[in-house]
Amino acid sequence: MVNLLDAELGDIEKTSHLNTDFISVGVDFFRTYADRTHHGKEELILFRELSKKQLLPEDERMMERLIQEHIWAREAVGRLCAANGQYIQGNRDAVKVIIYELGKLTRFYPMHIEKEDEHFFIPAMEYFSQEERSAMLDEFWEFDRNMIHEKYRKLVEGYEKSNA
Ligand SMILES: [Fe+2]
Ligand SMILES: [Fe+2]
Repeated sequence: MVNLLDAELGDIEKTSHLNTDFISVGVDFFRTYADRTHHGKEELILFRELSKKQLLPEDERMMERLIQEHIWAREAVGRLCAANGQYIQGNRDAVKVIIYELGKLTRFYPMHIEKEDEHFFIPAMEYFSQEERSAMLDEFWEFDRNMIHEKYRKLVEGYEKSNA
């Protein structure tokens, strides 16, 4: 998705034309998949379990940085979504915000993923026993299992509210 959005960003810069449907798909991907499903498992399960451990200062700092980055990414996606909505309503200036936020997000995600994959998750596993690791895996599966239901429950509830 980051590669696709990066290509979309290139198109916007070249043509000043915006595919608002695709930006909405990107926003939904970031919110539902990256933020709720993926960061959800990190924050609500892995980081929760790590907080119970005596972490090395560098691991503690890295976990704090990752949490801050998740917050930062959520805010950027919020601004991207708002600007896309403004563009749809006819505000052509919103394209500047969209270019800015898309540029930030497409640069941010590969760095964030590399930080986690190369510098955090493997050393972090050392804090856990085999039993603790498999308990977390079970919880990850359960978390994921619920996501599809949560996604579509929210979608329906959103429409119910707007029709009420
Ligand atoms: Fe993360
Ligand atoms: Fe991650």
